[in-house]
Amino acid sequence: MYNHKAPEYSIQTRINPINRRILPNAPSQNEKSEKARILPGMTRFAFFVIGKALVLLHLLVGIQAWGKEGHYVICKIAEGLLTKDATAAVKMLLPDTAEGDLAAVCSWADEIRFYYKWRWSSPLHYVDTPDFKCNYDYSRDCHDPAGNRDRCVSGAIYNYSTQLVSYQESKDEWKYNLTEALMFLSHFIGDIHQPLHVGFLGDEGGNTIIVRWYRRKTNLHHVWDTMIIESALKKFYDSDLDSMIRSIQNNILEGWSEDIPLWENCVTNCTVCPDPYASESVRLACKFAYRNATPGVTLTDDYFLTRLPIVEKRLAQGGVRLAATLNRIFAPHPLISQE
Ligand SMILES: *[C@@H]1O[C@H](CO)[C@@H](O)[C@H](O)[C@H]1NC(C)=O
Ligand SMILES: *[C@@H]1O[C@H](CO)[C@@H](O)[C@H](O)[C@H]1NC(C)=O
Ligand SMILES: *[C@@H]1O[C@H](CO)[C@@H](O)[C@H](O)[C@H]1NC(C)=O
Ligand SMILES: [Zn+2]
Repeated sequence: MYNHKAPEYSIQTRINPINRRILPNAPSQNEKSEKARILPGMTRFAFFVIGKALVLLHLLVGIQAWGKEGHYVICKIAEGLLTKDATAAVKMLLPDTAEGDLAAVCSWADEIRFYYKWRWSSPLHYVDTPDFKCNYDYSRDCHDPAGNRDRCVSGAIYNYSTQLVSYQESKDEWKYNLTEALMFLSHFIGDIHQPLHVGFLGDEGGNTIIVRWYRRKTNLHHVWDTMIIESALKKFYDSDLDSMIRSIQNNILEGWSEDIPLWENCVTNCTVCPDPYASESVRLACKFAYRNATPGVTLTDDYFLTRLPIVEKRLAQGGVRLAATLNRIFAPHPLISQE
């Protein structure tokens, strides 16, 4: 989620995130003047126009939480772990555009969030904790910037899983659009596993901490949404997302297999339990994301190689828990969520 904080809702403030977005990706002054020196007038103009278009394109495509890749990985892992009942329900609810693939719509919630019609959903992608408090408390933290209670990522997870439980009733009884509920829930269970989606209020979950990722200027939130995954794809997976997914799936079967029942379990025997996920996230944010990532710093191999295992484990947990949650919701006799 790029703009952690979708500020006030007006045309004006919608521009803010976009500006923030351009900053990290725009070429540095040096690169710019270097190019300008070599290129003759016309080419320079063309370059400028194409450059602008690319920045704009990147920005339109790039407004999201865990990048598209992160959400795709989580939903692919979940799909492989669904029961028969859950698979059937998911297939029933998916929009036609998904062509039967849950992972295809797991970034839908990010794609729509800046449209006027959906602006209310923007605060549902994250939760802020007080600055430098490495813990999370639903009643203290789960509200939107205006202070409306339950309007945060864990509140949204309760909300959409409760809606989905009515799938068991006849279609006429449905009060909500359960296609949307499924797409929101699958996305938000991903978001809550990104450590900086449960970050400090003051820096907007790392969005205002400008850093360099190797040579690229960006912000810390974006490093955790996207850059760590992208660098891992290039360095270890031959730029092949499926190969990264397979590697995480192997770890689930081998390295982490003993932890899986713990990951799947809801401690209070509920259908859904986002609060422990948020607590884990903010602890990881303190211990790994914020650590050594002060404003202006350049993050390279030291940071990348020690944080990648955290990111891969969070993607795995997100996938396992999304599947476990959907399996409980769509079980023939689901437990009623006892938030
Ligand atoms: C719950 O879902 C409904 C339907 O999408 C939405 O209008 C409402 O804002 C949601 N509330 C929360 C806290 O997610
Ligand atoms: C449910 O939501 C989806 C996605 O917004 C939309 O395409 C579909 O038309 C909605 N269905 C109904 C019955 O409103
Ligand atoms: C949760 O469910 C398990 C198995 O059904 C049961 O053994 C346990 O006592 C339950 N725990 C609570 C707190 O209800
Ligand atoms: Zn999101």
